[in-house]
Amino acid sequence: MPSTPAIETIGLAKRFNSFTAVNDLTFKVSEGEVFGLLGPNGAGKTTTIRMLACLIPPSNGSASVAGYDIAKDASKVRENVGVLTENPSLYERLTAYENMEFFAQAYGLADQSKRNARIRELLEFFDLWSRRSDRVVTFSKGMKQKLAIARALIHNPHIIFLDEPTAGLDPESAKSIRDLVERLSQQEKHTFLLCTHRLEDAERLCRRMIIINKGRGVAVGTIEELRNRVERGHVIEIALKEVDRKVVETVKRLNHILNVDTNCSSGLMRISVEDHDSVTPEVVRSVVNAGGQVLSVNVLRPSLEEAYLKLVKKEEGRGQLV
Ligand SMILES: Nc1ncnc2c1ncn2[C@@H]1O[C@H](COP(=O)(O)OP(=O)(O)OP(=O)(O)O)[C@@H](O)[C@H]1O
Ligand SMILES: [Mg+2]
Repeated sequence: MPSTPAIETIGLAKRFNSFTAVNDLTFKVSEGEVFGLLGPNGAGKTTTIRMLACLIPPSNGSASVAGYDIAKDASKVRENVGVLTENPSLYERLTAYENMEFFAQAYGLADQSKRNARIRELLEFFDLWSRRSDRVVTFSKGMKQKLAIARALIHNPHIIFLDEPTAGLDPESAKSIRDLVERLSQQEKHTFLLCTHRLEDAERLCRRMIIINKGRGVAVGTIEELRNRVERGHVIEIALKEVDRKVVETVKRLNHILNVDTNCSSGLMRISVEDHDSVTPEVVRSVVNAGGQVLSVNVLRPSLEEAYLKLVKKEEGRGQLV
């Protein structure tokens, strides 16, 4: 029997007065999945997370989180989720430890020794243990961000919403967050809804994602599916000592070639093909036979960034849900 999705939205919508921030959003996230929520500024990502975390009510549609209806079972949803919001509010006058203690108690972690151990584990993980007695007002932006993530994980939630978790973090700290998300999803089956503008984070962590624009779903699927939506096939990139007309004409005459681009100054030929496995050897052979001196051969796919930009641009102004 298929298991209940960790998160499911059906036609979810949010209006602020007459302005529609999220419109008819439908998607499903399975348990243990890291699902990306991508889109330009103002697309409606944070608003979606706020609805799913029961911080604001939807204007229309429905959603369930951990099997609980966000409209009917808000307290159950809150128990089961951890949320890093866009501008997390910490108690600036309290110390890091006191902040953690406060939220641990709010989440009902009654046993003091267990609570202390959990707080220590998280503060150590985020390199904040030595600063535990300092007031948060003295923390840097990145330190506050790490403390906010630690706070979101205090009750060991199985579903975690992270709104731009690596914003403001140095490269090493950003990597430790990515590693944490990977470990919790793979080893402990935690589910993540990850909002990010760092497409390399999405590419590495998310198996599936939804791209939203102006509140509407533009495309949903695996990275491979999103790439296929904008450009099928691969590009064989051949670096030559010199790009020669005879070589180019020879390649153009081959079967199954969709397009040939050349750049004489860099010596690069970019050959678009549908199925690179069957074509690459023949292309390279023909280039060599035509006198081309091959320096390197690379088979490329359009990056997630290219796919993302094209999908957002393609839907600009059309406002059509796919
Ligand atoms: N409380 C509010 N009242 C009025 N409008 C709001 C409110 N919250 C969000 N909006 C509007 O809803 C739209 C979506 O905002 P949202 O914060 O969800 O975007 P986002 O995708 O998270 O963008 P970003 O990448 O910049 O964080 C924006 O036009 C924003 O101005
Ligand atoms: Mg946002």
